[in-house]
Amino acid sequence: MTNHSYHTNEVIVFTRYTFLPFGQGPRSCIGMRFALLEMKLALFCVLSKFNLEPCAETPKEMVLSKTSNFPQSKDPLKVKAVSRS
Ligand code: HEM
Repeated sequence: MTNHSYHTNEVIVFTRYTFLPFGQGPRSCIGMRFALLEMKLALFCVLSKFNLEPCAETPKEMVLSKTSNFPQSKDPLKVKAVSRS
């Protein structure tokens, strides 16, 4: 269990059940490590070619969705992709 403090006085407690994209327990996803590796590889391919920068449509603050089952932003976090070459 991890306590994480943000710049407010609010303390959010994360447990192993806070974020469950791959499930938890004996029937949890057996492809989790492979899927995470693939995602890191995809991110690497994009970030090796582009810098991601804030743009006019980037929200100043991230507001968490109240309807999602997972901790995710209410609105899309739009950024500008600028070629590194
Ligand atoms: C972003 C990618 C993926 C997500 C979000 C995901 C998510 C999940 C979830 C939520 C479960 C159910 C866990 C539970 O019932 O508690 C599951 C089960 C499973 N996943 Fe994935 N998965 C992903 C990728 C993969 C990949 C790449 C493979 C195989 C190469 C895979 C193979 C399996 C298998 C075989 C099960 C059934 C495990 C069991 O019932 O014992 N998954 N996955």
